Amino acid sequence: MVTIRNLTKTYGRYRAVNNLNLHIEQGDIFGFVGPNGAGKTTTMRIICGLLEADWGEVYIDGIDSLHHNDLIKQKVGYVPDFFGVYDNFKVMEYMEFYGSMYDMDKTVVRKTSLGLLDLVNLTDKQDAYVDNLSRGMKQRLCVARALIHNPQLLVLDEPASGLDPRARFELKEVMKNLGSMGKTIIISSHILPELGEMCNSIGIMEKGNLISSGKVEEITKQSRHANPLTIQVLGNKDPAIQILRQTPLVEKISIRDNEIIIAFTGEDEEMAALLTSLVSGGVQIYNFHREEGNLETLFMEMTGGEKA
Ligand SMILES: Nc1ncnc2c1ncn2[C@@H]1O[C@H](COP(=O)(O)OP(=O)(O)O)[C@@H](O)[C@H]1O
Ligand SMILES: [Mg+2]
Repeated sequence: MVTIRNLTKTYGRYRAVNNLNLHIEQGDIFGFVGPNGAGKTTTMRIICGLLEADWGEVYIDGIDSLHHNDLIKQKVGYVPDFFGVYDNFKVMEYMEFYGSMYDMDKTVVRKTSLGLLDLVNLTDKQDAYVDNLSRGMKQRLCVARALIHNPQLLVLDEPASGLDPRARFELKEVMKNLGSMGKTIIISSHILPELGEMCNSIGIMEKGNLISSGKVEEITKQSRHANPLTIQVLGNKDPAIQILRQTPLVEKISIRDNEIIIAFTGEDEEMAALLTSLVSGGVQIYNFHREEGNLETLFMEMTGGEKA
């Protein structure tokens, strides 16, 4: 759905986006994560045709985005990272205003708006003034507005920032619904846990460089290696330790209370082989497990512990 090749953007001598390559599949909910200043907003604005790149290519649904601005605007809905000014609009008027920017027929806009307000759970607010809505409601209204022309791709810049947990939960529900409607979504955040549960794929950006990207499952799997393997045995630990010392992928062995904790770089297959060799060596094991990969730990490792 979205393919980016060698995308580069500089501001003066500063390289905000450095040779970025990325592919996002149709129906993906792609989380774009990185500390402030990483280049997320710049990249997203280029994808939406709102900012020119220095060089590189962006294809959206096969269309060369950098050279067909009008076509791209039809295909993309954008929710910026700041709320606009509302000029005393009521919610429905606000939707109608945005619809008119896409040359849509008034009755179509009204009908579409009703459906979208329902989607973002604002049906009972259609006659309320936008300025009087809570931050979370405004944010959901922005999502509805960005969908007025039925774009295939929705780009949201830091939509969860400044929202309380309840509003964040509601936003997450909206994202889920959009995902099940088959929309492709790009959503950015400088706080990784905000995205972990929402997205099925993720890209981690730092200082203009994409340092990792892929399916959330695969990325967390990679990070599992960093997590220790815990083994608990009945009785004397020495036989177990002896076997562990002879196992090539075991890198460090430590003992904490009644647990043996090892650094183990093997995959699932090697883990199974290790368990088999312990059991056939007569060790009685009652607990053998490794913590699941954790995106946040991985993110901290990758960005050198710099807190986002
Ligand atoms: N219009 C601009 N002029 C000069 N520098 C800019 C401009 N916009 C962004 N930058 C710089 O580019 C870098 C990336 O910014 P941005 O894309 O907003 O990152 P993010 O959204 O990840 O926080 C930052 O160092 C920022 O200061
Ligand atoms: Mg930003």
